[in-house]
Amino acid sequence: MRSLVRETHLRPGALVCPLFLCPGEGVRREIGSMPGVFNLSIDEAVKEAEVCAALGLGGLLLFGLPEEKDEQASGAWADDGTVQRGLRVLKGMRALDSLVVIADVCLCEYTSHGHCGVVAANAVRDGDRYEIENDKSVELLAKTAVSLARAGADVVAPSDMMDGRVEAIRGALDARGLEGTPILSYASKVASAFYGPFREAADSAPQFGDRRGYQMDGANRREAMREIDLDVAEGADMVLMKPAGPYLDVIRAARERFDVPLGAYQVSGEYSMLQAAFARGWLEPERAMLESLTSIRRAGADFIVTYFAKEAARALG
Ligand code: PBG
Repeated sequence: MRSLVRETHLRPGALVCPLFLCPGEGVRREIGSMPGVFNLSIDEAVKEAEVCAALGLGGLLLFGLPEEKDEQASGAWADDGTVQRGLRVLKGMRALDSLVVIADVCLCEYTSHGHCGVVAANAVRDGDRYEIENDKSVELLAKTAVSLARAGADVVAPSDMMDGRVEAIRGALDARGLEGTPILSYASKVASAFYGPFREAADSAPQFGDRRGYQMDGANRREAMREIDLDVAEGADMVLMKPAGPYLDVIRAARERFDVPLGAYQVSGEYSMLQAAFARGWLEPERAMLESLTSIRRAGADFIVTYFAKEAARALG
């Protein structure tokens, strides 16, 4: 009876699994604060992607760790960058054709200071007294998106929150014959404490200051709508809300206001909290995992980026 009358459904095809690619071979390094999530060299990522495809997941979201970090985030836009190389391998495999391969577009994994943009050369690098150069950052983000799309990304997903980056990325892609590559913009991304474990996985904690200069204040729902409005006007094909669980009301508001496809990102901290409780036997893993994901779908997300993607697909069987 419950199955007949259920209003909200979860299915593997609406789940996206994040992967953290790193240099090397045979590397499979577990993230301390994220049990079951690994830094993977490309050969290992291929194995992981095969599992994801076999489980019927909708897609992958790729992040990368570069060989070296610098001020200009060269590892983000280098044609032989970690994610670019990974994309060529993954998109070359017929067995993975069912997966939409989304490339995250950001500079924070690649800058020596860990910020998502370029820091002014003469900035005081102390506490909050620094500034990110919006327009210079946007140039590098557009360059990054082009190089990821050329390497085969099905979708590019800017997660930096600089102003005007969707328009710049759309223009740069179109100018190079990549008009078929859609943009999934992290339109409403909060400066959140829940990204902590990700920063261990991507080695991207800011060396000074924090991200409040460019990411949103979580207290503002109206501003979130405005951010989405701007990104859609600039050419975003789909938008991603992030984090998910603590912002279900914002997801619902976005669902009611916009007709574009809407994703939500159940971020690292949401995953780690649940994993910590599972490890102590304080919550029933499968039920709590599926309930957290169902809530996000019920709030209005079409698809969910989640570190539980594989587990959830197994549970949904
Ligand atoms: C890059 C980026 C971050 C996340 C996704 N893309 C980190 C951040 O903004 O600090 C967080 C994802 C997660 O916590 O799982 N800007």
